[in-house]
Amino acid sequence: MTDSFQTQVTPDNAQTPRPDAAARHGVMAMPQLDYTPELAKEMEPLYERVKTVVPPVEWPFFAPYIKAINNLKKQRGAVILAHNYMTPEIFHCVADFKGDSLQLAREAARSDADIIVQAGVHFMAETAKLLNPDKTVLIPDSKAGCSLAESITAQDVRDLRRKYPGVPVVTYVNTSAEVKAECDICCTSSNAVQVVESLNAPRVLLVPDRFLAANVNNQTDVEVIPYEPGRCEVHERFTAGELDDYREMHPGLKIIAHPECTPEVLKAADFAGSTSGMINWVQDNHPAKVMMVTECSMSDNVAVENPDVEFIRPCNLCPYMKMINLKNILDSLVYMKEEVTIDPVIAAPAREAVERMIRLNG
Ligand code: 13P
Ligand code: SF4
Repeated sequence: MTDSFQTQVTPDNAQTPRPDAAARHGVMAMPQLDYTPELAKEMEPLYERVKTVVPPVEWPFFAPYIKAINNLKKQRGAVILAHNYMTPEIFHCVADFKGDSLQLAREAARSDADIIVQAGVHFMAETAKLLNPDKTVLIPDSKAGCSLAESITAQDVRDLRRKYPGVPVVTYVNTSAEVKAECDICCTSSNAVQVVESLNAPRVLLVPDRFLAANVNNQTDVEVIPYEPGRCEVHERFTAGELDDYREMHPGLKIIAHPECTPEVLKAADFAGSTSGMINWVQDNHPAKVMMVTECSMSDNVAVENPDVEFIRPCNLCPYMKMINLKNILDSLVYMKEEVTIDPVIAAPAREAVERMIRLNG
């Protein structure tokens, strides 16, 4: 494990420890999780909504968790922020706010809930904590990392600054707080071009995703310098040749891709955008057949709301996103774990990098 990830679980302040989340909010009793006939009846309308993407054999296991989570959220005054890659039983059945990284950061900034449960990966929970330093932010599994976030450390950014003196550094939101603290401004896949151009500099470093940097470079006159080792292990696996094969197999197919894919893949696609950008594209364009070149749960989640669209699914699973499930979300709410804490010395400059981005975007 890299030192950047270890920083993400550093205690808030070793000198002035505050009681942990369980001590502050108390631990609740674990609810009954039986699939009774009464529960089956009560949950029928919800199952009707997700039945095309949740097999009937799985529902009796999910339904009691969904009911328990939704009850506990109310009792605790908690909200669940869910990334677009969450599985449909999380995305459609327990999430209060859903979206891409930028939308989740904005929701976190606006939230007046005492407790935020991040159904997503660790850097997302950390961003929520940066924007809500006095609230309790929980992630159901703190090992839910990200290959991009783990590809770069704060020292790597300091080395880059020495190599490129005076060149501003933009960090993709998929990084640890320690890395954000070393950078000038944050960006997400939905605003990277705008953030890069906002700096009014002829050259900009964009870390850590080398493919996002290359894709932004193709859309702006600013020279975007990449950090070579950074890549998303999910999106780097798609190839342009694979896209061509699918087009041959499915005449009329529309292909939309995430900007963490290679520039060759983006060139072979009809549209590229953030996870929410891709969802909006399907809703706005109503293609007869579409292929979302991204994580697997996206197609399931979007299919629920677009029953007339046929989804071709050559997806790749993100093993980190898939660490979050109904069971550990319920554990979070019952036991108040796992709490996200950030060293205040790191949190202040990291927050500034995120807030600069939010100010830019409104
Ligand atoms: P979005 O900001 O587009 O949701 O991307 C986050 C991510 O991790 C994609 O792999
Ligand atoms: Fe990180 Fe890639 Fe997973 Fe997104 S899909 S969380 S970038 S590893």
